[in-house]
Parts: sequence; structure tokens; C-alpha cells
Amino acid sequence: MREINIGLLGLGTVGSGVIKALQQNNHNISAKLNAELKVKRILVRELAKERAVKVDAGMLTGDFSAILDDTSISIIVEAMGGIEPAREYILQALGKGKHVVTANKEVVAKYGREILAVAEKMGVEVCFEASVGGGIPIIRPLKQCLAANEIQEIIGIINGTTNYILTKMATEGKDFAAILQEAQAKGYAEPDPTSDVDGYDAAYKLAILASLAFGTPVGFSDVKFTGIGHITREDMVWADKLGCVIKLLAVAKLQAQGLELRVEPCLVPQSHPLASVNDVFNGIYLKGNLVGEVLFTGRGAGDLPTASAVVADLMDVAQTILAARSARPACTCYRNLPVLDQHEIPAAFYLRVAVRKADAILSVNQIFNQSSIPVTVAGKKLKQHKGGSVVYIISDITYTALADVVAKLREAPGVADVSLFPLEGLCADDVVSAKV
Ligand code: NAP
Ligand code: HSE
Repeated sequence: MREINIGLLGLGTVGSGVIKALQQNNHNISAKLNAELKVKRILVRELAKERAVKVDAGMLTGDFSAILDDTSISIIVEAMGGIEPAREYILQALGKGKHVVTANKEVVAKYGREILAVAEKMGVEVCFEASVGGGIPIIRPLKQCLAANEIQEIIGIINGTTNYILTKMATEGKDFAAILQEAQAKGYAEPDPTSDVDGYDAAYKLAILASLAFGTPVGFSDVKFTGIGHITREDMVWADKLGCVIKLLAVAKLQAQGLELRVEPCLVPQSHPLASVNDVFNGIYLKGNLVGEVLFTGRGAGDLPTASAVVADLMDVAQTILAARSARPACTCYRNLPVLDQHEIPAAFYLRVAVRKADAILSVNQIFNQSSIPVTVAGKKLKQHKGGSVVYIISDITYTALADVVAKLREAPGVADVSLFPLEGLCADDVVSAKV
């Protein structure tokens, strides 16, 4: 049986998952391909480190050129993470005519155009199914199965670590740091977990999804993002009372004047398909003008789910090699859409003001009255000497228009805290009618 040799860069969560997947499903994979996928060399930093999988010590190397210069290796899997040297190694591999499979959303979101251009020039494939949604098939469906549609919107929960943290905070009331440690131990988090918690990881993934879905170049710098660090247990309890959950959403919408792109925690109604996507699961909900609504869900991180996507990419590339087919065009962009300023897009908001004493709410009301911004009280829990919170719903307003009033509220006497989240997938009236 013909062998296709692979050079694997990285033997951490994803790299080990790829080895396990190839060992565990070797029989099926070979039978489907009528060829064997064989990992020949593995690049690591520390040769002596204990590994999650058993590999022949001779396969490990700390020298990338041992893989790059091996002409029997036709596919490189990049599972190292970070920008450099991952970007440089991908470009060198493509430059040598090797196909590349990568799980690295940061590199694809920031340097995708450069990488795709080199792949196209060299006539080789570059695949990145694992870069978004872990084990969920989403890159290939967007490029192929849904290609006939005009995609109108994508709303996704696309970071497993933060979804795991938010789910545990909401259901178990556990401490943020302890839950993050659990997510790290399970191999969900990035080497630097601030990338997950502060929203960078979801922003990289949204840039990739949006360029494929809307056929336009979208880079990481086009996406405005906020993480989950400011979400309190109290806001989760209020959201629940209003019939909602708080989720870190990645939103891309085709508007008349261009693209709306943002990653931020939002209130989502409990009836929305994404509200029940919990733990490390990711969910990507999209609307196409032919297909209507589609929902993809599955494990968004972890060794075997991610390896499922990487190995499928390997099999796809192997088929190109075996059939001696030319590589498909790498870039799917066919237009240049402007990206809208997120601060100028009207939305509905949940705004909670926490006060130290109940009468401080008088100055809060005064600020709202002076601003002429219409607000509706959706919930109130105040005790004269202990204070409490009032939750307001504000419709059809931009961040810019809200900024001044939020700044004044934060400085008002007796105000302890102000939290602000957009409402997604529901109109303000739904929340107000759920008044608590
Ligand atoms: P990881 O566990 O930290 O593993 C990284 C591996 O790369 C390690 O084996 C490390 O070697 C090696 N490496 C890093 N820098 C290197 C360098 N300069 N030279 C040689 N080897 C180097 O990371 P991971 O979680 O597997 O993630 C890898 C990539 O997959 C990232 O781009 C990540 O965003 C993406 N991804 C991860 C998941 C997930 O669930 N974890 C899911 C989808 C996509 P040593 O072991 O010797 O230190
Ligand atoms: N750290 C990422 C997450 C890994 O938690 O979703 C999968 O890309």
C-alpha cells in the first residue's frame, strides 16, 4: 500500500491527538484512502519531555530543516501555535512544494492572505479545518457545501475555554480561576489562556469564518472584541431571571453598507439554539439565502476532537496527492466589503446599575432623564440601606450614544458598578415583558 509521509510540528494537545487518532483509526483511514498516512518526523522544543503518546524517540527532532529537507515528506501538519516560527515554517514548507495542514487560527487570521498566495503559487493545498470550532466541520462546509448561498449572518460560540468557564460559573457558581485551571488541564486553553479569556482566540476564528462566509478579505484587526473577564455571577443571575443566558458570541452580519463584526458577551434568549451550547461545545449558527438557518455544534477543543479535523484535512490532501490532481484555488475571496464601525451600529442593551444605597438610584434616574435616552426598567432589587441593582433595557442605540451616559453613571455618587451587555437574537420587548 502506498505511504504518504507527514512531518508533524508540535506534540502537545493537538499533535498528540493526531498521533492517537492515526493509531486508533489507522485501519479505517488506510482502507478509505487505499494508502497509509505515516508520521515520519515530529518537531518539538524539548526532546526529553514526557509525552501523552508513545512515539519512537528517533522520530523527534528539534531541527525543522530535518523535516523541511526530507523530500519523502509531502505534508506538514503545523500544531505548534503562536506566530513565529509557525508562520515562517508554514511558508518554508509551502515554498518547498509541501502541502500544509494547520490548526493555528492566529496565523491564518493574521497571515492567511500571504500563506494562501504562496500555496496558490506553488500549486499545493493549505487546509485549516481545525483552526475554527475544533472538531466541528465548518471550514469545508462554508467553502463547498454552502457555497451557493449568500450568507447573511453567522453567530457563533467559538471558544471552548470561555464557554466551559461561563457554563461552570452559571451552573456551579465556581470560582473563575479554578474553572480556568480545569479547562487548561483538559487541554482546551491556549498556551497563554488570556488569548481565550480576553477574546483574541474567538476574534481570530471570526476573521477566518467571515472571510469564507462573505467571500471578502477579513483580518484579525477588522474584528472588535471583548472577553469574559467582566462578567459577574450577579449578571448571570439577572440574565436567567430575564429568560436569557450570557454567552461570548462571535457575530458577523452582512448589512447594507458592509460587514458587522464583533466578539463580545451578549444576552441570548434561553430559547435560542446557541443558548443550550454548553461546556467545551461550540455552536455556529448561520443563515444563508437558500438554505435558511443552519446550526453546527460539537466539541470545540481537546485532543481527539481537534485531531478529527486535522486528520480529515490530511485525508483530503492525501486524495489530491494520490489522484495527482492539481490543488484547488486557495483563496475564496471574490469581493472587498467594507467593515462597519461597531460603535455606530444600533442595538439593544441590558444595563445594570448597582448602587450602595437605594436612594442613589435618584441620581441614576437624573442622568437618564438628562441624556434623553429612553430606558425601560426590566428588574429591580433594592434595599434602603444595603442598596442593590436596577436592570434597564435600552433599545436601538449605539455604543457611541451610550458611552457618555455610562461614564456619568460610573462616576455618580453611590453607584458601585455598571454592567452593559448587548442583547442578541431577541428584541428588547421580549426582555421587558419578562419583567422581574
Ligand atoms: P500545546 O499543547 O502547547 O503544544 C504545542 C507543541 O508545539 C508542543 O509540543 C511544543 O513542543 C511545540 N512547539 C511550540 N513551539 C515550538 C517551537 N518553536 N519549536 C518546536 N516545537 C515547538 O498547544 P496545542 O494546544 O496543541 O495547540 C497547538 C495549535 O493548535 C495552536 O495553534 C492552537 O491554537 C491550535 N488548536 C488547539 C486546540 C486545542 O484544543 N488545544 C484546538 C484547535 C486548535 P514541546 O512539547 O517540546 O514544548
Ligand atoms: N483554546 C481554544 C478554545 C482551542 O478554547 O476554543 C480551540 O481552538
